[in-house]
Amino acid sequence: MFDTVKNRRTIRKYLLKDIAPEMLNDLLETSFRASTMGGMQLYSVIVTRNAEMKEKLSPAHFNQPMVKNAPVVLTFCADFRRFSKWCEQRNAVPGYNNLMSFMNASMDTLLAAQTFCTLAEEAGLGICYLGTTTYNPQMIIDTLQLPELVFPITTITVGYPDDIPSQVDRLPLDAVVHQEVFHDYTSEDIDRIYSYKESLPENKQFIEENKKETLPQVFTDVRYTKKDNEFMSENLLKVLRKQGFIE
Ligand SMILES: Cc1cc2nc3c(=O)[nH]c(=O)nc-3n(C[C@H](O)[C@H](O)[C@H](O)COP(=O)(O)O)c2cc1C
Repeated sequence: MFDTVKNRRTIRKYLLKDIAPEMLNDLLETSFRASTMGGMQLYSVIVTRNAEMKEKLSPAHFNQPMVKNAPVVLTFCADFRRFSKWCEQRNAVPGYNNLMSFMNASMDTLLAAQTFCTLAEEAGLGICYLGTTTYNPQMIIDTLQLPELVFPITTITVGYPDDIPSQVDRLPLDAVVHQEVFHDYTSEDIDRIYSYKESLPENKQFIEENKKETLPQVFTDVRYTKKDNEFMSENLLKVLRKQGFIE
């Protein structure tokens, strides 16, 4: 049971084979069956197939090669604009230019995005999420001409897999699941939970390559630093204001 999900891995290399528009539309339409707050469908998806548009999007994603190499790039956006316009056209006053509404639209957007990914993988396609979407939102907003109350949440590159990489580990079930109430982690729990990850040769190599002492240091000092996160948080708030989601 659940073999497709159990065997899945992120795919970053794609064949030069296109995805038929009918198939893509079918996958998208089916993914919009995902749960959605109040049935409002607070998202829009921008489909990029055009090479010139991929070229323009590429720097926003730090030139990750998947953007130019995938046949299809999908930018999933939180969208309270469509619904707000409907309200205004029907003598209703929308109150959705606030953080709560951004959260609600973001949740809707990610549910649709992940449902799309699961369906696409079931159909034999490979996907990669691009977290860079929220690192450089303004570049994406400009390129895709996103108006007020529309905000890029995530990007998914999709295509037929070329390379099938090995699977990435996951934490043991009891590290993540708590029965009835949250059970805080003792230092012994932390040692046990992360021991498999720390034992992997690729992670030991990762520590060496980055000249660090421990695996978490690779995250805190190199990959996801406080300085970068603070800078990007400020930027995110600035762009959220500009898009009219917060005052
Ligand atoms: C929110 C999010 C952002 C991600 N951003 C990137 C990215 O920018 N580039 C990339 O190559 N992979 C990205 N990934 C994929 C993860 O690296 C990948 O899911 C993780 O390493 C686990 O591997 P697996 O999906 O093969 O199990 C992202 C995944 C998520 C959920």
